[in-house]
Amino acid sequence: MPIQDQEHPDLDVIIDCDTGTDDAVELLTAFGIPGVRVLAVTCVDGNVGVDAVVRNTLGVLDAADAPDVPVARGCPVPLAQPTPDASWVHGDNGLGGIALPETSRAAVPLHAVELLRTTLTAADRPVTVVATGPLTNLAVLFTCYPEVKEKIERIVVMGGSAAVGGNSDATAEFNFFHDPEAAEIVLRTGPNVWLYGLDVFNSVTVPAEQVRKLVEHTEPAARLAGNLLTGMGKTWNRVDPVLGDTGAFLVAVWPELAQVSAHRTTVELHGAYTRGMSVVDRRADEDLPPYTDTSWSAVTVVWSLDEDALRGRLMDALLRPRARR
Ligand code: RIB
Ligand code: CA
Repeated sequence: MPIQDQEHPDLDVIIDCDTGTDDAVELLTAFGIPGVRVLAVTCVDGNVGVDAVVRNTLGVLDAADAPDVPVARGCPVPLAQPTPDASWVHGDNGLGGIALPETSRAAVPLHAVELLRTTLTAADRPVTVVATGPLTNLAVLFTCYPEVKEKIERIVVMGGSAAVGGNSDATAEFNFFHDPEAAEIVLRTGPNVWLYGLDVFNSVTVPAEQVRKLVEHTEPAARLAGNLLTGMGKTWNRVDPVLGDTGAFLVAVWPELAQVSAHRTTVELHGAYTRGMSVVDRRADEDLPPYTDTSWSAVTVVWSLDEDALRGRLMDALLRPRARR
């Protein structure tokens, strides 16, 4: 793999998402970064039902002037049991009530797990996977087709938290809350997992004046991103809206912007009050009692970011003129 040039990335990515408002900003951003080739977008049940996720994803790809990248419908329910969606945050349509024009795009006639498998199998160089929804599709993929893991260079997961508790309940972040079994499988069996948790998810904001610049821009992708961010700000009563999932994507493209360390990590599945909680062991190895279970998989935890540089790359991507299709 070529050494990543900070200014000129060169990588192939797959996005697995549950297109709600912040996943939509992620997609608009992804297709505005030269050198990033999105091989596929796979949809999963999460923020809203998977059919609404597919509809949102297709419409956002139009606004992003994305090429004919394959989109597939994935798992419609979590692995073990139904759990609440996040429509209370993202609105009933998942996009904060923003209505997108009808699109001629359609999902491919493949399940998302099959699109993931065929895309990874055919990849001619290592692929970066960015997962910003519940991990149901990826858990099924790694369980049914473990051989594809050798084609993955890194998985950046928006999910969990290392030290700041939950958002869907006191201990669980939504993507892990929605499908804890899937999160446990992916963190245990996924290759080179990076955890972009609430520790950073909640800290990266977009200043109101930059949101306004997007809203007032001539590019449809910029305007839609600005309107989505405006809605996200209103939802949480924040002058400067939290960037959300897009931060995970930007870290996947420019990992040098993140301060990270590796920790044994797992996901609680049985706690009455902690089901879906990411459990990050932050103790130093030399401090461990002899009875410690060291079988948990090592996960690279993102603790902080060069936020100004990240925001700069975000705005460059969203404001970049796009060749209208
Ligand atoms: O907890 C944050 C995650 O859940 C993000 O992926 C966002 O889309 C929300 O639904
Ligand atoms: Ca999401």
